[in-house]
Amino acid sequence: MDEQELIRMAHRAREKAYAPYSKFKVGAALLTKTDRVYTGSNVENKSYGLTVCAERNAVSAAISDGERDFVAIVISSTSKPPGPPCGACRQVLKEFSGDIKVIMVNAAGDRKIRTVAELLPEPFGAKDA
Ligand code: THU
Repeated sequence: MDEQELIRMAHRAREKAYAPYSKFKVGAALLTKTDRVYTGSNVENKSYGLTVCAERNAVSAAISDGERDFVAIVISSTSKPPGPPCGACRQVLKEFSGDIKVIMVNAAGDRKIRTVAELLPEPFGAKDA
């Protein structure tokens, strides 16, 4: 999968976001090792706490289709500079990735790349005391 196409898919997912409360639309495009792409948009709710981020919706779409091995995720927002994933999404990405590439982009065409390990240096992991 070409990175530019993955970025276009994340932008398209952003346009479909349901964000009437924050007005902040986010789209995500998650690339699997099998070269499939799963997209997600943020979906808000009148009961604000029920909102689900774009990244976690993309991960859920992939998992429910039997895909668990990821290569990269593109996150599209209107932030300048491009916005990173929230803490909850970092932990969810960590669950399924060795260390995938996180490509943050915005509508203006800016691009910032990190890895999940860089974004979440000390992930939660239940261990014996
Ligand atoms: N949001 C995401 O979709 N992903 C993130 O990583 C951070 C925040 C959404 C949630 C909410 O709908 C809006 O952005 C404003 O917080």
